[in-house]
Amino acid sequence: MQTRSDSLRCNGKKIVLVPTMGFLHEGHISLIRKGRELGDDLVVSIFVNPAQFAPEEDFDSYPRGFEKDCQLTEKAGVNAIFAPDAKELYAEGFQTYIRLEKLPMHLCGLSRPVFFRGVATVVSKLFNIVKPHIAIFGEKDFQQLQVIRQMVKDLNFDIEIVGGALVREPDGLAMSSRNTYLTPEQRVQALCLYQSLKKAQERVNSGIRESSKIIEEASAFISSLPEAVIDYAALCDPETLENVKTVDKPTLMALAVKIGKTRLIDNMMLR
Ligand code: PAJ
Repeated sequence: MQTRSDSLRCNGKKIVLVPTMGFLHEGHISLIRKGRELGDDLVVSIFVNPAQFAPEEDFDSYPRGFEKDCQLTEKAGVNAIFAPDAKELYAEGFQTYIRLEKLPMHLCGLSRPVFFRGVATVVSKLFNIVKPHIAIFGEKDFQQLQVIRQMVKDLNFDIEIVGGALVREPDGLAMSSRNTYLTPEQRVQALCLYQSLKKAQERVNSGIRESSKIIEEASAFISSLPEAVIDYAALCDPETLENVKTVDKPTLMALAVKIGKTRLIDNMMLR
């Protein structure tokens, strides 16, 4: 990959990377399409990264579908897939990790303590291997996007980070590879995330500004569903991810809810 990228760079080509864990859906494809527009050479990485899963999480059962991913990426005009083996990427004796000090102290970082360390580490490895000029990440994982932006700034990676809008199913459920875990009944209940976000924006439109009120209402609705358990419901500053008390400027509403065993996340900027 490095040799390939070096020669592309020598020829003045702009390399774009879209990192993924595969089992691609329309959310990933939207990032790939964006990548196609932004550069000359488009690389998609497919790697289910063991370092970002805690032992009790779903690393083993995480959905995989390499053949179909290859077809989808080819159709979308991807030039190369980088799909390394875990043993290759984390060779024996591996011991260097990247850990941010503050951003992981909020939202997903609280219930997934190793997650952002794993993400920051693998993404910086992918940056060093693929050597892209541009890398694209989805706003579906808003905190992840902020973590990457911060890491790139802090460590002087010479890479432009581009965000891609969150893509939803027609009924509003945020697309996610993990949606395949849901039973038909759970799939209906999973709509509570998007419904709560929409309701919150309506509340803000009608003049409500207290975060606590908006969160209480969302929590009550979500908790009323038989299989839904809230991990967090937060209104936060989109830069620092610190909780805000009142919605007096664009504020990120972020939700993580377990529907049965499946943990789903969603977010919306309240304006
Ligand atoms: P994965 O969950 O496969 O997501 C890959 C990229 O697709 C991420 O940037 C994510 O934000 C984006 N994405 C996922 N669902 C989306 C949706 N519904 N709309 C828009 N974008 C969406 O995120 C990861 O993999 C990993 O943590 C990774 C960055 C690859 C590091 O291992």
